[in-house]
Amino acid sequence: MVFCRLRTHQWCFILSNVLLFHLLIFGADLMEEYFLRALPTSYTDMKVLEVREQARKLDMSTLKANISRAYVVSSSEACSDKEIFLLALIFTSPENSLRRSAIRGTWANLTHVRDYTVLALFLLGKPSSEATQQELIKEMKQHQDLIQGDFLDSPENQTLKTLRTIEWVITFCSQARFILKTEEEMFINLPTLVEYLLNLRNHPEDIYLGRLVPQETPNRDPQSHSYIPLHKYSEMYYPDYCSATAFVISQDVARKIYVASKEVPLILPPGVFVGICTKKAGVDPIHSSRFSGRRHIRYNRCCYKFIFTSSVAREGQLLREWEEMSNGKDCTLLETYYGLLSCRVMTYLDGFKHLSVDALQNETLRAAD
Ligand SMILES: *[C@@H]1O[C@H](CO)[C@@H](O)[C@H](O)[C@H]1NC(C)=O
Ligand SMILES: *[C@@H]1O[C@H](CO)[C@@H](O)[C@H](O)[C@H]1NC(C)=O
Ligand SMILES: *[C@@H]1O[C@H](CO)[C@@H](O)[C@H](O)[C@H]1NC(C)=O
Ligand SMILES: *[C@@H]1O[C@H](CO)[C@@H](O)[C@H](O)[C@H]1NC(C)=O
Repeated sequence: MVFCRLRTHQWCFILSNVLLFHLLIFGADLMEEYFLRALPTSYTDMKVLEVREQARKLDMSTLKANISRAYVVSSSEACSDKEIFLLALIFTSPENSLRRSAIRGTWANLTHVRDYTVLALFLLGKPSSEATQQELIKEMKQHQDLIQGDFLDSPENQTLKTLRTIEWVITFCSQARFILKTEEEMFINLPTLVEYLLNLRNHPEDIYLGRLVPQETPNRDPQSHSYIPLHKYSEMYYPDYCSATAFVISQDVARKIYVASKEVPLILPPGVFVGICTKKAGVDPIHSSRFSGRRHIRYNRCCYKFIFTSSVAREGQLLREWEEMSNGKDCTLLETYYGLLSCRVMTYLDGFKHLSVDALQNETLRAAD
């Protein structure tokens, strides 16, 4: 009744408010996608051309036997000569078998999206205890999805792990078209990601896609354990790179990273390391806000069917949400829209809550001091 009696300018006011609200919610994403587009690298740089040429000519077949010695267990047969569209490589710590089984039972329990093959494998190094290693060998026999390098799986060795993973891919799984590198605390929506990749061009090359981290500065605090000395990396900022929590590269980019990595120090954080290698090869990162980075996106079924990743801390939560998600119907456009709206607002409020809780705790700590 009230609506019927509104005048034109009142309608205009309501409409502009609705519009403003949506602009605030989604505008940030659009702006981000626009401004985070990296400037194209010029291919006239001789060094870049050299890396690309070397990557094209790279032949790993003669190194196969030698490289396979660097793995304690390796599911090299897992890839064999199957045509693979997306290879998901999940970085896991040797001790965390609980998480691996949760992942196997949820988002990674999938072999095809439409007619395209998807394969998920776990990457790990050596544990510090022999008992864990025995458990791992059992797990390997049962699931055939572990790749274990012969380095110690410590926080400091994560960049080495990244490089070993890339070496493994180009040696034993060179037919995989796209490679997703992710971490065990992430939820990945494989079907949506595959759909997205299918919509790229016909023969997509130079793909390096994820959540962009722009203008990060190296840690210059000598007391810190992630200290980067000037002689290892001298520039003020890191190049823009995709967050190591989840990013996708095409097979040619894996080869380019491998070739470029020879001159990049392993002391750099894994994401930065990959970013520097791709830059040397003239590959620009592509940003998508559907990658969450380290953030947890508040669960909403239709929202989770749209996004690519979210960080989910607890196994129980992952299992519960997965069950709800798999049992539900498909989402209509309107439902997706409201799902996105709702998870965006809730995630924003969550961030606010964490901030104020942190600040409160700091206050109390300071008061206690
Ligand atoms: C074989 O691998 C080792 C390290 O695993 C390396 O030091 C050596 O140079 C490699 N040999 C050849 C012929 O590539
Ligand atoms: C994967 O899903 C299938 C049903 O699609 C189910 O039968 C199987 O038990 C699941 N695997 C795991 C490890 O949960
Ligand atoms: C990294 O792995 C190597 C090979 O196992 C090991 O010798 C080294 O101690 C590890 N580094 C760290 C910091 O754990
Ligand atoms: C609270 O303190 C920790 C370190 O003590 C710091 O990392 C964090 O940023 C602080 N949070 C806020 C909101 O000030």
